[in-house]
Amino acid sequence: MCGIIGCAGRGEDTLDTLVHGLSKLEYRGYDSAGVALADESLDVRKCAGEIEDLREHLSGMTVEGTVGMGHTRWSTHGPPTDENAHPHQDCTGNVAVVHNGIIENYQSLRDELVAAGHTFHSDTDTEVVPHLVEDALNDGLDPEAAFRQAVGQLEGSYAVALTVAGTESVFVARNDSPLVLGLGDDATFFASDVPAFRDFTDQVVYLDDGEYARISPEGWEVSDVDGTVVEKEVDTVSWDPEETGKSGYDHYMLKEIHEQPRALRQCLRGRVDELSASVDIGDLGDLSPTGIQFVACGTSYHAAFYAAQLFQSAGIPAQAFLASEYATSPPPIGDALVVGVTQSGETADTLSALREARHRGARTLAVTNVVGSTAARECDHALYIRAGPEIGVAASKTFSSQLGALNLLALATTRSDEARDIIAALRDLPGQVQELIDDSDAKEVAEHYQDAKSYFFIGRGHMHPVALEGALKMKEITYKHAEGFAAGELKHGTLALVTEDTPVFATTVGDGEQATKTVGNVKEVEARDAPVVAVTDGQSDIERYADHVLTIPETHPRAAAVLANVQLQLAAYHTANFLGRSIDKPRNLAKSVTVE
Ligand code: F6R
Repeated sequence: MCGIIGCAGRGEDTLDTLVHGLSKLEYRGYDSAGVALADESLDVRKCAGEIEDLREHLSGMTVEGTVGMGHTRWSTHGPPTDENAHPHQDCTGNVAVVHNGIIENYQSLRDELVAAGHTFHSDTDTEVVPHLVEDALNDGLDPEAAFRQAVGQLEGSYAVALTVAGTESVFVARNDSPLVLGLGDDATFFASDVPAFRDFTDQVVYLDDGEYARISPEGWEVSDVDGTVVEKEVDTVSWDPEETGKSGYDHYMLKEIHEQPRALRQCLRGRVDELSASVDIGDLGDLSPTGIQFVACGTSYHAAFYAAQLFQSAGIPAQAFLASEYATSPPPIGDALVVGVTQSGETADTLSALREARHRGARTLAVTNVVGSTAARECDHALYIRAGPEIGVAASKTFSSQLGALNLLALATTRSDEARDIIAALRDLPGQVQELIDDSDAKEVAEHYQDAKSYFFIGRGHMHPVALEGALKMKEITYKHAEGFAAGELKHGTLALVTEDTPVFATTVGDGEQATKTVGNVKEVEARDAPVVAVTDGQSDIERYADHVLTIPETHPRAAAVLANVQLQLAAYHTANFLGRSIDKPRNLAKSVTVE
């Protein structure tokens, strides 16, 4: 999972345009970066490190060219070094390639190329591509035909781009990795994701698997695998470029936490009618599943787990599966609807599970944030969560919007006696999230417990996925051990780890049986001297046993899950900030995990 960008027609601004675009793609990987600019000659510059390091590396250099491309890397083959940074080149130095994805047959290709006399300089799978192009050029093919011949030999996933000295074009191809063109007035772009060129244009063309494109200062053209020109639809992106900036916040994650009221409003807009207590998500309302399976990873799995609970409570057999396990040991499908919950729509494990489900005859639905993503295009149906771009690697607003959208799906496709109450709760949710953010004591809690050894998170029912998500967020951005549990489960072993150094975040709402039992579990940890942080609407007596309280407004338990999670996001964010962590780009992580 890397980010690629290219542009043609930006003249002497080509280099700046590429580096600016890479900075917008850094969430896709940030362990090395590079650029290639071409006109009569080819200039390639690259280094290990983040985009800032590339900027420094380039300062004072003259790098010229009328077309160019850039890459930001998240390592899959070989460590983050200067040599492994993209672009990669052939033996002559006239060919440069950037690539996002994995070339599965690279070893056999490389062995053949080495036997034929090619010299390699990196450990990457990508480096075979410029050498294949070099051979094809030597055979007399023009650059475009050479590119097609090289790409035709690749097995695996790729968004790959080529430029060659003396050719004022960049050639791209796509298979199983995202690639989108941007059409400006005087310039054309391509990138792994729209923010890379959104400052220059809002007109985009999403490439499909098996498609090729050529961009040059004169324009662009998309063709299929046989070279036949494909007429593509031009879409207009609806969000503003400022939405991808930090807007004065210290971190993207904090900005994105604060954007949740707006993200939730967008998610619900035009989809709920309070008067008739109905939900309108178009044709998706007719899906009426008799069984439903959710597949997802990480944070999205927690949203999927919550969604399964919604359908179970409507009497529909529903299960949530970790996508990586679903693909390797598929459960019986019957006539279940299989739903991939994926913010990016590009997660390899989730795509693989969806493909397995489709292969076995299931109807599939993608619940995703990215219009035109692979999941959206490959599934029979798509439901967009409408959170807007999320740059921070740790998901925040996308999780809340996933919960919002999954509620809409459940309301539209099942019957619930509580529909009116749930819809009212959803309507109030954006305002309540805003109030909660304004009044949260999470920063004080974070300061108090920043030196803790471990953190535990417990909750029952809808608060169980919230506990899992709270722990994941804490781990990701603080680098501290954290675990989430169904509240009743902690005592079955993990209680042995609970001490005065391990704060327990206990989340409960209402004053019913679940709350009473959770309070019982809180007493168990309190008796082991563990500090307790209660996340509560104040209806139970959990506060009596808590050292700190993070308050959430009273609402329906489904909406309370969103609110409780926002408090936990803030607790994780502030803890990481006190510890000085790299919040937007935690070590070892990338936003979009496009390998299995
Ligand atoms: C964590 C996080 C990840 C993703 C997971 C799946 O904050 O965001 O756990 O949820 O990698 O990604 P998507 O949702 O894009 O399929």
